[in-house]
Amino acid sequence: MPRHYAIVPAAGSGSRFGAEMPKQYLPLAGKPLIYHTLAALCRCSRIDRVWVVLSPDDVWWRTYDWACLGPKLETVFCGGATRAGSVANGLLAAQTAAADEDWVLVHDAARPCLSQAMLDALCDALADDPVGGLLAVPVADTLKRADAGQRVAATEPRDGLWQAQTPQMFRYGVLLKALASHPGVTDEAGAIEAAGLKPKLVRADASNLKVTYPADLHLAALILQGAHE
Ligand code: C5P
Repeated sequence: MPRHYAIVPAAGSGSRFGAEMPKQYLPLAGKPLIYHTLAALCRCSRIDRVWVVLSPDDVWWRTYDWACLGPKLETVFCGGATRAGSVANGLLAAQTAAADEDWVLVHDAARPCLSQAMLDALCDALADDPVGGLLAVPVADTLKRADAGQRVAATEPRDGLWQAQTPQMFRYGVLLKALASHPGVTDEAGAIEAAGLKPKLVRADASNLKVTYPADLHLAALILQGAHE
């Protein structure tokens, strides 16, 4: 039986929050944001180990006690210049544990509201899949293309368009190779597609949001609060 591992790229430094602190450490429901992300993965009985990939310059991780997340968590300070670079380095760090056929779930540190139900839905949908896939949501809003003056240049058809989320789940060996060959991608599915394969879209919902703007932090707090009521 293939095992399931998680890789959490958490080496991003960019922040639209006006703070020096990277967004993955911003306070959310009384804990650092990334705590919630890691807790969702560590608590999932299907996942054997979780590698969190931090920047070599990270000064924030050690200011918090992560012991409560349990023994599955592995911390590595090998983040790269891009998200794809951080994931590729995390995969290499997992090499002694992972076999080519094992599943790897790559999940953004900045998505703290992943539910166990969505994790289960992803693993169930892909258990016998020859390629793997990702959580995603069909685009619901009308899409506008902007010109340089932030005026509408065109209305774009949204038929068949989905917003990619994470986790993205692929076989360890295939993903390692695909990312090495296609390092410029913005998600794992992009590397798998570039390798000529077709990842499966597994329907999720907007609660698995990526914290990008200050308002997202407030929304994430409400979602987490609702999940625990
Ligand atoms: O910036 P954005 O939210 O799109 O980043 C997605 C995820 O990738 C975040 O969890 C971020 O910490 C991570 N990342 C990384 N290494 C980078 C850039 C981003 O691990 N060089």
